[in-house]
Amino acid sequence: MFRVGEEEIRAFAESLLTKDFFKINSSGREVFRFEEEWKKETGTAYALTMTSGFAALTSALVAMGIGPGDEVIVPGYTYIASALAVLSAGAIPVIAEIDETMTLDAGDVEKKISRATKALMPVHIQGFPADLDALKAVADRHGLRLLEDACQADGGSYHGKKLGSVGDAGAFSFNFFKVITAGEGGSLVTNDRTIYERALIYHDAGAVAFFGDQLRDIREPLFGGSEFRVSDLTGAVLRAQLKRLPGILRDLRRNRDLLAGMVRAEKAPSHDAAGDCGTTLALRFETAKACRAFAAKCAGKGLSLTVPIDTGKHVYTNWTQVMERRGAFHPAMDPYKMEANRGLQWDYAPDMCPRTLDYLERTAYVGINPDWDEQKIEEIASILNG
Ligand SMILES: Cc1ncc(COP(=O)(O)O)c(C=O)c1O
Repeated sequence: MFRVGEEEIRAFAESLLTKDFFKINSSGREVFRFEEEWKKETGTAYALTMTSGFAALTSALVAMGIGPGDEVIVPGYTYIASALAVLSAGAIPVIAEIDETMTLDAGDVEKKISRATKALMPVHIQGFPADLDALKAVADRHGLRLLEDACQADGGSYHGKKLGSVGDAGAFSFNFFKVITAGEGGSLVTNDRTIYERALIYHDAGAVAFFGDQLRDIREPLFGGSEFRVSDLTGAVLRAQLKRLPGILRDLRRNRDLLAGMVRAEKAPSHDAAGDCGTTLALRFETAKACRAFAAKCAGKGLSLTVPIDTGKHVYTNWTQVMERRGAFHPAMDPYKMEANRGLQWDYAPDMCPRTLDYLERTAYVGINPDWDEQKIEEIASILNG
């Protein structure tokens, strides 16, 4: 969470006091208004607000027709939810290397494409834009879907296009740790009418058929799905947060650039530094040992850095249920036990993405605060340069 205050309190209270804050047919229509605003923000034709980024990823995969018998390539450095979304659709996550920017490596993806591959899932981790031109070219060449996991990248862009809008669909998270937040929440965006229609049905399996006129003009037939709706209370808070988004991004990027300009250590490259959300300055070291020593020196002076190899479930080696191939509790629902998935690429091993592990232990993150002043940034730079 970066900024929150009276505007969110007022928006929440106003929605609450309507006593009418169920999304559909509510007098407030806060979620629907947020969706209109989020479409404008992301430059997409359709947006659906959901309970989480995981819900948005899963709904997108289901809507793309991905399921048992299919592989989806994910990076070995992302929150485990990216891989679990693939499993929840019944498909198999295939784990690929990251490049020097910490995002999905297009060259390794190409090597891991098989006859079963149906989609690529680049992840804009820490708001760092993935190599979308290269990944889109690979996807187009092989007839694959591109699903952008922009859960950590609300508001980010890639060479002038908003993250989430380049692929066939994009997923955002509004959980507490994200650039804007309602505590929990997510959004699926797409320009594809069929993906939108199926995701609409899947994300709101009951209410879409029961309340309101949501199925008007929908061509796709109803099918069983989930209940990932949010209430107008979430919509109201998200609308207030969205108003803050340009200011949050402007100040994050300004402070990141100021700090980067003062710091002597090598910085990790980026596929688009201007579009990167600015939440993180990534420093790169020759060796893991040098990185550790640098982080320890800064910690001794009161500045805590994050070495991403230490970030638990963001590192594939720590995705216990994936590495141990337990994709669901019930064996018949477990993609790793399904006949359709026999012979797919799930022979995971801790050392299968050595370049990913190498970057993760040779990189140190400085978390950026949009509310720092210049004096604070100079203090931090002097610790980093000390
Ligand atoms: C890269 C990434 N993907 C997916 C998710 C899932 O989002 P949520 O927690 O909203 O389900 C997260 C959340 O932390 C994430 O960081």
